[in-house]
Amino acid sequence: MKAIVYKSQTGFTERYAKLLSEKTGVPAYPLKQAGKYLRKNDDIFYMGWLMAGRTSGLDTVVEKYTVRGVAIVGMSPGGNGGLWDVACKNGGYSDGGAPVFYLRGGYAPDKLKGLHRLLMKPMANSVVQEIRDKGPKATESELEMMNLFLHGGDCFDEAQLEPIVRWFQTGLHDGRVRIMPNATL
Ligand SMILES: Cc1cc2nc3c(=O)[nH]c(=O)nc-3n(C[C@H](O)[C@H](O)[C@H](O)COP(=O)(O)O)c2cc1C
Repeated sequence: MKAIVYKSQTGFTERYAKLLSEKTGVPAYPLKQAGKYLRKNDDIFYMGWLMAGRTSGLDTVVEKYTVRGVAIVGMSPGGNGGLWDVACKNGGYSDGGAPVFYLRGGYAPDKLKGLHRLLMKPMANSVVQEIRDKGPKATESELEMMNLFLHGGDCFDEAQLEPIVRWFQTGLHDGRVRIMPNATL
């Protein structure tokens, strides 16, 4: 594997990428700088934050590099989004046979800028209202999500990297994420 390439807005994905780099010895580059170090079609592991079901930056990297595996970083307790749905149907792999992992990052509303801040506000309000409406029927996990939306929170957990580190060390690196027409990656 030539590199770990990542895209992070509020820092969670960056922290995971840097720690994964330490644990594997593979260099980590932010997507914007990766072109300085990598050539077209080089093998990479991609890490991107989840934005409304899409893994941000993935559409760009699949055109430039050979994406051998992906980690999606979101705020929900379990994986979600277009690529995650594909992976769930395929036993944990993208359509091209690359492993797909999910890492829980967190929510840092104070670090959000411009459009993302604007987009998140109504989404957060509607989730909070939906959970409030459930009253005592709301589950522990729903209450935890409500708190996360209301106050932000850090769900970074080093242990979540373990399956990825294992795959770096002993897994097959012969699948790839392909561009799928009309697919939400
Ligand atoms: C506009 C917007 C949309 C988001 N959509 C999702 C989503 O669909 N699923 C999810 O689990 N998290 C979603 N999140 C939460 C981020 O993926 C989460 O905060 C992530 O940890 C951010 O990573 P970063 O710190 O590397 O930018 C969204 C955040 C924003 C700002």
